[in-house]
Amino acid sequence: MTQPTYQQLLRDSGLERIDAQVLLLHVCQQSRAWLIGHGDDSAAPEHIAAFTELAGRRRAGEPVAYLVGTREFFGRDFQVTPAVLIPRPDTELLVETALELAGPGGRVVDLGTGSGCIPVTLKLERPDLTVSAVDLSLEALAVARRNAATLGADVRFLQSDWYAALTGETFELIVSNPPYIEQHDPHLAQGDLRFEPRSALTDEGDGLVHLRRIIAGARTHLVAGGWLLLEHGFDQGAACRALLHEAGFSQIATRRDLGSNDRVTLGMIGPELVHPEDCRG
Ligand SMILES: C[S@@+](CC[C@H](N)C(=O)[O-])C[C@H]1O[C@@H](n2cnc3c(N)ncnc32)[C@H](O)[C@@H]1O
Repeated sequence: MTQPTYQQLLRDSGLERIDAQVLLLHVCQQSRAWLIGHGDDSAAPEHIAAFTELAGRRRAGEPVAYLVGTREFFGRDFQVTPAVLIPRPDTELLVETALELAGPGGRVVDLGTGSGCIPVTLKLERPDLTVSAVDLSLEALAVARRNAATLGADVRFLQSDWYAALTGETFELIVSNPPYIEQHDPHLAQGDLRFEPRSALTDEGDGLVHLRRIIAGARTHLVAGGWLLLEHGFDQGAACRALLHEAGFSQIATRRDLGSNDRVTLGMIGPELVHPEDCRG
C-alpha cells in the first residue's frame, strides 16, 4: 500500500486547513516553508500515526493550542496546558494599554495570571518594571513560572485569592483579565471554552462578581496616581465604568478591541482624592 503524501494527510483530515497544517507541522517539527518543499513527499509512518491521533482529537473539539502545547501572544510562544486559559489576541490591548501607562520603574501586578502571558510580556517589553503576578490556581502558576523561565522574564509569582497575599503592598499599576462570563452564558458549552478551566472563564454569577471584588480592593493597593486596567466582556464596559466611579476613580475610559467591542476599562486613583460625585457626566 502506498503511503499518503503530507498534502493528502492535510486534505483528508476533515479539519480546517489552518488547524490541520498547525498540527502536521507540530508532529513533523517543521516550518511552513518545509511543507512547501515536501508536501508531495510520502509521509513518514510515525508522522501519519501521530497526526491521525491529533486530528481525531481536534475533530472531537480539543483546542489546537492544547494539542500542540503553545499559543503565540504578543509575538512570543507561551506554553499552555488545560490548566490555563488560552491567551487571546484581545488581551494584547490590555498589555498595550499597560505599556502606555506604566511610568519608568513602576511596580505592576497582574491579578489572575493564567499562563503568565501578561506579566511575562510586560517584563520583556519593559525590563525597568517590577512585575508581580497572582493566581488562585497552583496548576496555572506552575505553567506561568515555566513560561517566565523559558522566556527569561524576572516575574514574582504568588498564589493568592485576588489581593489576599498582597497585604501592605502598593503598585503603580494593577492589571487583570478576570473570569467575566456570566454563569449561564451558552458560549461556555461551545468551541474551545468547553476544554478551558471553568474557573478561568466564569464567576458562577452575573459576570461582574470578580470585577467588583478587584475594583473594590484596588484603592488599598494603588499609589496616588496609580492605574487599574481591566479586561471585560463586550457588554460590560458601562458596568465597569460605573463601578470605577462608585469606587472613586478618575480618568475613567473604555478602549475597544480590533473588533470594535468594548474590551478594556481603566481608571486612576488620585493624586487628589476624587469623590464619586465629581465623576458624573
Ligand atoms: C480569564 S483567565 C486570564 C488568564 C490570563 N491572565 C490571560 O489573560 O490569558 C482568569 C484567571 O483568573 C484566575 N482566578 C480565578 N479566580 C481567582 C481568584 N479568586 N484569585 C486569583 N485568581 C483567580 C483563574 O485561575 C485564571 O487563571
